[in-house]
Amino acid sequence: MAFYYNEPSHTFSEYLLVPGYSSAQCIPANASLRTPITKFRKGEEPAISMNIPLVSAIMQSVSDDNMAIALAKEGGISFIYGSQTVEQQAEMVTRVKNYKAGFVSSDSNVRPDQTLADILVLKSETGHATVAVTDDGTANGKLVGIVTSRDYRVSRMDPATRISEFMTPIENVIYAKEGISLKEANNVIWDHKLNALPILDNNQRLVAFVFRKDYDSHKENPLELLDTSKRYIVGAGINTKDFAERVPALVEAGADILCIDSSEGFSEWQKLTIEFIRKNYGDSVKVGAGNVVDREGFRFLAEAGADFVKIGIGGGSICITRETKGIGRGQATAVIEVAKARDEYFEETGIYVPICSDGGIVHDYHITLALAMGADFCMLGRYFSRFDESPTNKVMVNGNYMKEYWGEGSARARNWQRYDMGGASKLSFEEGVDSYVPYAGSLHDNLSITLSKVRSTMCNCGALSIPEFQSNARLTLVSSVSIVEGGAHDVVLKDNNITPVK
Ligand code: IMP
Repeated sequence: MAFYYNEPSHTFSEYLLVPGYSSAQCIPANASLRTPITKFRKGEEPAISMNIPLVSAIMQSVSDDNMAIALAKEGGISFIYGSQTVEQQAEMVTRVKNYKAGFVSSDSNVRPDQTLADILVLKSETGHATVAVTDDGTANGKLVGIVTSRDYRVSRMDPATRISEFMTPIENVIYAKEGISLKEANNVIWDHKLNALPILDNNQRLVAFVFRKDYDSHKENPLELLDTSKRYIVGAGINTKDFAERVPALVEAGADILCIDSSEGFSEWQKLTIEFIRKNYGDSVKVGAGNVVDREGFRFLAEAGADFVKIGIGGGSICITRETKGIGRGQATAVIEVAKARDEYFEETGIYVPICSDGGIVHDYHITLALAMGADFCMLGRYFSRFDESPTNKVMVNGNYMKEYWGEGSARARNWQRYDMGGASKLSFEEGVDSYVPYAGSLHDNLSITLSKVRSTMCNCGALSIPEFQSNARLTLVSSVSIVEGGAHDVVLKDNNITPVK
């Protein structure tokens, strides 16, 4: 006879947190959201921790290099989508690793034997006044001089004048060496009243410019997530089919952490993928696995060697897996059970395997609930897709700005590797939809509000860190009637069309 669970499985919206005692020190400014993302032994530090408990979903409509840079600036990690060619994905990872806030690759470059006329053409094309003069005319050639609009007078000079005759030669150019921080570069700019500071390597080759006007928009972010070489940390999705080609390319490109992207992860395919990584790279390559929704699934992946385990089947906003296949579990119940399994495993082995609640975050407080229930961090798709930084088009629908958002299991994404149970080479039916989500503005502005809500609720519950919150939180299931009580009720909401009566 089939096995039946006695209790129904629940979603986040069916729970509330019961506040606890808060001391005078328990204020949001003192609350830390730092959390591990890779497994670690008792008493040791995890190889990678995040400064906020959020990662962006492994999806075409969510996580490209642009999103990865924006989220790393805030202290989280993006997993760049794997449903593209190995080369394209590795290229995105490379772009994140090469990115340095405020350090701009020169887009206006000439050779000294070119003419004033060439400078004028370049200026009309780029709109930029600072031109690098390099020996080979490239952005990374040996810097021999600089031309700005102060170096020439169009009305008084022959357009055929050679650049070498009027440029500011390198002997008179103030420059800095590669390795300087943005703050130090900015000090040089201010001390010498410069508009642009060239950054050179040890062979006098041009690496980048730092521009005076860019500094304010690139002020260092206190929570940004950097590797030991001060590059942004980035993740990447892999699948259980082409890992032998994809993993080496992503590792070579500098991906800090990988994650097997699958709609259902309690399978031998995941074990084989992790085995490949351990055999070729030992523990130096970090890899998460999933998704699972129960104790057995967690143990299987933890024992297979996963660095973190991802939870969730069927709860994603664009997901129709439950409707099409009849599999899944309420996300809250799944997180609670897997968190228990993680703690049991830690007791037994001394190894802490972080867990991620993936999908189904509708309100900001759902993140807080997931953490209280034991998740170490959450993966979100819909949430991030609404921002300027997501890769999709902003469109107008019925007078409102929207962003496109589609599932990896939709015909649009064609990510058959995510759903394949072996053999198939195309999607035989869809498990996701193509949709719109309301446009919400910048990631930074939205995230600030979301995270202040999380910190504030943690303080209501007397916790100043995620581990403390996980062990002290008290949760209650709510009845359907009390859900109604939780919204505005028995009042008529004001709108602007009401005329006051004197
Ligand atoms: P959301 O944050 O509720 O939008 O859920 C995002 C999560 O849904 C992703 O991280 C995936 O785990 C999952 N997902 C992505 N695409 C699909 C799909 O097409 N079908 C089912 N689940 C999906």
